[in-house]
Amino acid sequence: MRAAVLTRFGGPEVLEVREVPDPVPADGHVVVRVTAAAVNNTDIWTREGAYGTAEDPGARSGWRGDIDFPRVQGGDIVGVVESVADDVDRSLVGRRVLVDPAFYDDHGHPVGLLGSEADGGFAERVAVAAARVHDVSGSALSDEELACLPVAYGTAMGMLERGGIGAGETVLVTGASGGVGVALVQLARARGAQVIALTTEAKRSRVAQAGAAVTLDRIQPVGAALARTAPGGLAAVLDVVGGPALPEILPRLRDGGRWVIAGAVGGHTVSLDLRRLYLHNIAVIGSSMHSPHHFDLLATEARRATFRPPVAARYDLADIHQAQREFVGRNHVGKIVIRPGTGR
Ligand SMILES: NC(=O)c1ccc[n+]([C@@H]2O[C@H](COP(=O)([O-])OP(=O)(O)OC[C@H]3O[C@@H](n4cnc5c(N)ncnc54)[C@H](OP(=O)(O)O)[C@@H]3O)[C@@H](O)[C@H]2O)c1
Repeated sequence: MRAAVLTRFGGPEVLEVREVPDPVPADGHVVVRVTAAAVNNTDIWTREGAYGTAEDPGARSGWRGDIDFPRVQGGDIVGVVESVADDVDRSLVGRRVLVDPAFYDDHGHPVGLLGSEADGGFAERVAVAAARVHDVSGSALSDEELACLPVAYGTAMGMLERGGIGAGETVLVTGASGGVGVALVQLARARGAQVIALTTEAKRSRVAQAGAAVTLDRIQPVGAALARTAPGGLAAVLDVVGGPALPEILPRLRDGGRWVIAGAVGGHTVSLDLRRLYLHNIAVIGSSMHSPHHFDLLATEARRATFRPPVAARYDLADIHQAQREFVGRNHVGKIVIRPGTGR
């Protein structure tokens, strides 16, 4: 089969589209013919080895440490079950499935990811655990729309659940035009929250279309704008950006508010006035991906098709380098999807 193979840490040149042996399902596994697989930051940062380690922040490393090269990346997988191991229910064959890309510890915390700790979906076929496939045969969403869900919407679902976001609450979403940001806007809105979205001027109308009640330009000072837009204070900040805007944002949380942090695309080292946290009973909630329960909730939303994830662009597997360039350019809103079953 054809696959995009990561040969070592490095620039785009270390990603090679070439023929590799077909996967064989081990006990408890199925082989999925991949029809769509979306691009995530983790594909770029794993290729670059940009995660660092606790001992050495500058070290070349995957998010959990070493990567076993060669590795097929891609954590967002949708496809059709083609074959199953002898110990797996044969009725799965032919089902359209959404794959939960996480490996979990005994507490349901994600400790590994398809495409990083095992081969993923930038290939014509992938072997995955039968327990991790969710039947979405009847969903009204297309394969490309479904492929937007696992990492970005899984992460967003984890943030909303861990932050206890409910109907009627006013929440701020940062990085609102990105994969996780749009997911937060759509999923928060679907549960009846009022969303204020921080984005760039050129993307405001597309973020509003996704369901944000108010959009604010992140280049302008945000503290005063938030005070005007949410005079009663924010119930939660759903944050994937961190960075220099944070000292202006956190004081806008109301007493008992939650700062749910899942990314730091704007800068991971920040300066905080701790008094703004403890004097107002602000909860700081670190959020890594999702739990099996969160993914079940997401699969239910996918079957109901309660929202349509925006697909910003589509690429054949052979054009994965171009897809990654567009992703890193960040002029898009939503997700960029690879179609391994098509093209050269
Ligand atoms: N914890 C987890 O499990 C998990 C899972 C997935 C992703 N993440 C992390 O979450 C973050 C977002 O992921 P994503 O997939 O949504 O990324 P993405 O699609 O690249 O979107 C990130 C968005 O952040 C905004 N942004 C970019 N640079 C910024 C800056 N310097 N200051 C402020 N905003 C900036 C941009 O939106 P605007 O132009 O609209 O501002 C951009 O569209 C990344 O750090 C990623 O590693 C974490």
